[in-house]
Amino acid sequence: MGSAASDRPIALVTGANRGLGLETSNQLHAQGFRVVLTSRKEISGIAAARKLDPDGKGVVYHQLDVTDRQSISALAGDLPSLASRVDVLVNNAGIGSWGADQRQSIRTIETNYFGSRDVTDALLPFIPGGGRVVMVSSGLGELSYLSRDLRSKFADPSLTRDSLDALVASYVSALESGEAKGSGWPSAYSVSKVALNSLTRILARELASRGIRVNSVCPGWVRTDMGGRGASRSVPVGARSIVLGVMLPDDVTGGFFRDGKKILW
Ligand SMILES: NC(=O)c1ccc[n+]([C@@H]2O[C@H](COP(=O)([O-])OP(=O)(O)OC[C@H]3O[C@@H](n4cnc5c(N)ncnc54)[C@H](OP(=O)(O)O)[C@@H]3O)[C@@H](O)[C@H]2O)c1
Repeated sequence: MGSAASDRPIALVTGANRGLGLETSNQLHAQGFRVVLTSRKEISGIAAARKLDPDGKGVVYHQLDVTDRQSISALAGDLPSLASRVDVLVNNAGIGSWGADQRQSIRTIETNYFGSRDVTDALLPFIPGGGRVVMVSSGLGELSYLSRDLRSKFADPSLTRDSLDALVASYVSALESGEAKGSGWPSAYSVSKVALNSLTRILARELASRGIRVNSVCPGWVRTDMGGRGASRSVPVGARSIVLGVMLPDDVTGGFFRDGKKILW
């Protein structure tokens, strides 16, 4: 209230036309952020943005399919006309795959891991010192879901981006040859979030010198389309866990949080 749109901190949220992304945008807007709400489907994204902010000053919209390089480039190209910077990037867009469907499993890795990685890389030039990247992960991405051998590889503190990408590629090869389960891999969803958490640790290290903090958050099990009606948490409670990840103290980076409290990788 009262502060000019240009003075407000700016948050960009992916997959924000429904579910946790929409409610996270709502809560950030209510806390004084200017929000760049993005979605892969323009119609539902524009409707969501207008619902949160009918006059379109506090919530602006841009299309973004996190698996589409052209869509990511278009967002990066248009961003200067929408926002002067991105103080907070919330990588929320995600899909689930818990079964044996090979195509859906690969899509899950492409969306949850590669999509978050590519969006972050493209938007990094707009994130100033003091900015934050929040990866919306999951308790199903805990290292405990992996076999001992895989766990030590993903948890290796000297893991690089190239070696992480090679690990993810080895999972995709195992999926394609039908050997994923026998080789100790959990569901594609768990693999995507384990890999996202490893990326969080790598980016936190890489970006520390620029003063950019990178953390993973788990919203808990939430009653969205993904979580289903039987989930234990309401959407506002789950989104609050994401917003608390945005509000972590300045010196906190490279961690995994639920409800603002540190949890095990
Ligand atoms: N719900 C839970 O219990 C739970 C628990 C732990 C973690 N999470 C994580 O929380 C995040 C949000 O989940 P949710 O429960 O809100 O799920 P949801 O209700 O199914 O919403 C998922 C959102 O992601 C978007 N999305 C999917 N693929 C996309 C793409 N390629 N590009 C851009 N947007 C895309 C969807 O857009 P469309 O409308 O176009 O499909 C939708 O807006 C996910 O990362 C999920 O893994 C959820």
